[in-house]
Amino acid sequence: MDHTEPAGAGDTLQDFGPVPAGWVWGTATAAHQIEGGNVGNDWWDWEHTPGSGTRESSGDACDSWHRWFEDLELVKAIGLDAYRFSLEWSRIEPAEGEFSIAALEHYRAILLAAHELGLRASVTLHHFTTPRWMAAQGGWSNPLVVERFQRFADIAAQHLGDQIDMAATLNEPNVVAHAGYIGGQFPPGRPHDWEGFRQASRHLLLGHLAAREALRAGPGDFPVGLTLALPDTVLHADGDLTSPGERVTDLRPDGPRGELGWLTAGQYLDAARDDDYIGVQTYFTEHVGPDGAELPLPSGERVTQMGWPFTPEALGASVRVAAEVARVPVIVTENGVAAAEDAERIEYYSRSLRSLRAAMDDGVDVRGFFAWSLLDNFEWALGFEPTFGLVEVDPVSFARSSKPSAAWLGGLARASRGAH
Ligand code: NOJ
Repeated sequence: MDHTEPAGAGDTLQDFGPVPAGWVWGTATAAHQIEGGNVGNDWWDWEHTPGSGTRESSGDACDSWHRWFEDLELVKAIGLDAYRFSLEWSRIEPAEGEFSIAALEHYRAILLAAHELGLRASVTLHHFTTPRWMAAQGGWSNPLVVERFQRFADIAAQHLGDQIDMAATLNEPNVVAHAGYIGGQFPPGRPHDWEGFRQASRHLLLGHLAAREALRAGPGDFPVGLTLALPDTVLHADGDLTSPGERVTDLRPDGPRGELGWLTAGQYLDAARDDDYIGVQTYFTEHVGPDGAELPLPSGERVTQMGWPFTPEALGASVRVAAEVARVPVIVTENGVAAAEDAERIEYYSRSLRSLRAAMDDGVDVRGFFAWSLLDNFEWALGFEPTFGLVEVDPVSFARSSKPSAAWLGGLARASRGAH
C-alpha cells in the first residue's frame, strides 16, 4: 500500500494488525495542561502578562492534580495500556535548590497506582514549563540551566526511577526554543531573538544529555529519550505550492532547512543516536519554500481547530524520517487532532495509524503509539478552545465523559493485543 494514499472518509480502521512484542497503546497529557493551579512556572506568568497573546489562564485546567486517579482509571477503562504524563518541575523545586517531598510523593502515587491498574507509565521531565526562579535567571538561555535541570532529573530519578517504565527528558525542545525566541508565542516571548534561540537550543541539547545521564544512573532500567515536534515537511524549491514538492528527509543542521529553519530537529535527531528511542510528535504536513518558510495554504484547504492542515498521513512520513536520521527505535509519543466533531478524530486516527502501519510494514522499528490527548485540556496560548481529547472535561464540574473515539481506539488496542 502506498503510504501517501489517503483513506476515504468514513473508512474507519478496525484492525491495526499485529504489533511487535512490548508494543504500547497509550495516551498522553502534560502537567501544566491538566493539573491546574500551576502558579510557580513561567507559563502561569505568561498567561497573566497583558499583550502576551495568550487567550486565557490555565487556571484550574482539568483539576488533575486532584483527579489523577480518575484519569488513570479512564485510561484503563478505555482499554489502553500506557499513560504518558509530565512532572511539573516548579512543584518539585518551587525555589532554587529547595525540593518538595510532597510533590515527589504525589507523582510516586500516580506511578504506583498506574502499575496497580496494569498500566505502563511514561514520564516526561520537562513539558514546556520552567520554574519561575529559573526563568527569572534567563531560563534556557542561561548556561546554568543545564546543571539545574540535571539536578532536578537526578532528584526525580532517585525518588521515582524504580517505578518509571519509559522516560523523556524534554518535550519538543525544538518548539521551546523556536516559540520562545523566534515566534514569541511562548515565554520568554522574544520574537526574532536569534542569539537567544541559539543559546536556548544549545542548552536544551546539553540539558537532554545531562538529564539522560542522571536518569540512566538512577534506580530502574527503562528507555530514555526525548520527543520532537516533527511536521512532515515538503519542500518546493521554486516556492510554488502547486509544483511537485520533495519530502525533506534531511533534517541535519546543514540540510535544506538550514540551521535557522524553525524545526532544527536535525541536531536533536543526531543527539538521539545514543538515546534508547526517539519520540515522534506529528500533527500535519507543511509545505515550505526554498528559504524554509512555510507556504500559505490554498484557500478552502481542510484545517483543524488549530488551523493546521487536516493531513493525518503526515505521521507515516515523519516516522520514516526520524528512524532514518536517529537510527533508534521510534515511539509515537503524540499524535492526534483538535476537532469539535469526534467523528473527525476517528477519521484522523484511522488514517494516521494506516500510514504508521505502512511504515512499519516497510521495516520502520516503531514500538508504540500515544494518542494526544487523554483529556480536552489547556492548549497553551490558545487556551481551552481546541479540543484534542479522547475524553471531554466539563469546565465547571470537571466531570469527565469519554467520547466515541476513546471506545474506538480502545477497541483497536484490544484487537491488536488479541492478535498477538
Ligand atoms: C505538542 C505538545 O507537546 C502538546 O503540549 C500540545 O498540546 C500538542 N502538541 C498539540 O498542540
